[in-house]
Amino acid sequence: MEVSLKTRLGPIELSHPVINASGTFDVLSADLVLEEDLFDRFPFSAYVPKTVTLKPRRGNPPPRLYETAAGLLNSIGLANAGIDAFIREDLPRLAQLPVPVIASVAGESTDEYGACAGLMEGRPEVAAVELNVSCPNLELGGRALGLDPERTHRTVALAREATSKFLIVKLTPNVTDIVEIASAAVDAGADALSLINTVHGMALDRYHLKPVLGHLSGGLSGPAIKPVALRAVFLVSRAFASLPIIGMGGVTDGQDALEFLAAGAAAVAVGTASFRDPLAAAGIANELRKLMQERGIGSVAELSGLAQR
Ligand SMILES: Cc1cc2nc3c(=O)[nH]c(=O)nc-3n(C[C@H](O)[C@H](O)[C@H](O)COP(=O)(O)O)c2cc1C
Repeated sequence: MEVSLKTRLGPIELSHPVINASGTFDVLSADLVLEEDLFDRFPFSAYVPKTVTLKPRRGNPPPRLYETAAGLLNSIGLANAGIDAFIREDLPRLAQLPVPVIASVAGESTDEYGACAGLMEGRPEVAAVELNVSCPNLELGGRALGLDPERTHRTVALAREATSKFLIVKLTPNVTDIVEIASAAVDAGADALSLINTVHGMALDRYHLKPVLGHLSGGLSGPAIKPVALRAVFLVSRAFASLPIIGMGGVTDGQDALEFLAAGAAAVAVGTASFRDPLAAAGIANELRKLMQERGIGSVAELSGLAQR
């Protein structure tokens, strides 16, 4: 049986549903160290660079990464060189990729989100803008504005005014009611949602019994958070049936991708799994095709939301 892996995020056509999760695959560095020619045989069907903010950010003190049972804790703190450097240095090279580029932006204030989205307007290299609403917000004493429906609404509305690009909003799962936050984002003009960012977590040093991360706590990713992510995709997709959703959180093999799509996603993103195998995404797409074939599912459109029906 012929299986088509083609899918779409609004106007953006993808050759298969596996993209990368922001901040977990630096194609410009990976291309220098991997034998594979990444610009020729790119494993993802779209590329999302690390989140950039209006001003450069130093990020959090080290250590910033710690492996846990079935997961990874990180407290990078959105370290980045700022959006001007991204536009000047990275974008021209990313434009050479054979897939659409989805720019991930954030701000330390609500206004900065609008400013970043506006800077992406008129950039032909950028197919879509993803708002990462998990950045520590200075107006909220360092809390992410994505924790609050009204702030989320205001931020998305500002970005919506500033750009006509396809607008994706990436939500944090660290909330009581993710459907309420999703609803605020959609109401303010989000075209699609990415679900989910990392889950708050902490680890203690086994001997000294002190927090291992320099920032004390961090964000948990990897297989440990898959059930949390799957639930978020299922609930949000059930509430907004025609909304494109990019599902992520522990996608490690084809079965995971199959389940996220069945829960209601139109595409999946691979994050932590790329640290173990930078080319994992290619295998995940191949496995997905096989698993769909075994089940007599001919297309992503047929698979997406199967768990809801
Ligand atoms: C080291 C690391 C850095 C990350 N940086 C970002 C980032 O810059 N922007 C963002 O939106 N998400 C960031 N994330 C979150 C991932 O994009 C993804 O939402 C999360 O890790 C869940 O997917 P996974 O379990 O496949 O890793 C980061 C995750 C990790 C592990």
